[in-house]
Amino acid sequence: MNQLRNYFENNDKRLINKFNHYFDVYERHFNKYKGKKATIVEIGVFQGGSLQMWRDYFGSDATIWGIDIDPACKTLEEKDTHILIGSQEDPTFLNSILEKIGPIDILIDDGGHTQNQQIVSFEELFSHIKEDGVYLCEDVHTSYMNVYGGGHQRNGSYIEYTKNLIDKINAHHSEEASLKVDEFTRTANSIHYYDSIVVIEKAKMVPPSSKMTGHRSFEYIAVKKTFFEKVQYHALIRINKLLRIFKLKAIFVNKMMELNFKH
Ligand SMILES: C[S@@+](CC[C@H](N)C(=O)[O-])C[C@H]1O[C@@H](n2cnc3c(N)ncnc32)[C@H](O)[C@@H]1O
Repeated sequence: MNQLRNYFENNDKRLINKFNHYFDVYERHFNKYKGKKATIVEIGVFQGGSLQMWRDYFGSDATIWGIDIDPACKTLEEKDTHILIGSQEDPTFLNSILEKIGPIDILIDDGGHTQNQQIVSFEELFSHIKEDGVYLCEDVHTSYMNVYGGGHQRNGSYIEYTKNLIDKINAHHSEEASLKVDEFTRTANSIHYYDSIVVIEKAKMVPPSSKMTGHRSFEYIAVKKTFFEKVQYHALIRINKLLRIFKLKAIFVNKMMELNFKH
């Protein structure tokens, strides 16, 4: 059985509040840190139960930090489990605690769950996650709940915000000035979407390169474009660039591709 789920199901220590399906996601992304000297940060302490669960899972070498807006949470500190009081929506507060915490291996955002809280925390903290660290934001179903500022494809929702990060991951292939390689492209390896959870795994990314290996199975016969095909090809390229500016669906793509592979 999943160790975290087992702990949760048999928990007789402090109260924990988690969805049942989260434990497989945690196991998949956190497993490599078990028993390591890792820095784990969780926004949202509540009654302190999840911090005790992380201690049990990661072991005594981990340093665990909880962040909560509720001053009562300060009383829940334990050995090597520190609690900082302030709002995850306050960039000044977040920046003031970063020096204390140092580089972070895993950040779990289980705080207030409003769109702005999740976005501000991500923007302030992502660059402080270590080169191979993990940023996990949970309860992102609030992106669909009006009371948290959410709604399907609604401006300002955390889910919509992270959809733009998908573009950034692919930015090396962009032909348009609106999508350029940035720090996120250079430092994010992958984004994983689950029901109610978004996980971003970091890695030092290099520009992608491809090559062919092996030998040909068929003889390659290069075909030349006729004059008419050259004119047609350039016209289709231009028309589709224009359509692209207005985000309109491309036309005659198969024809463009056919001509693209002729010389
Ligand atoms: C869902 S509970 C955390 C549950 C806990 N992680 C667990 O698994 O048992 C959310 C917590 O976020 C805290 N919170 C709400 N708004 C916050 C904010 N702006 N900044 C930091 N913490 C906040 C609440 O005080 C509450 O303790």
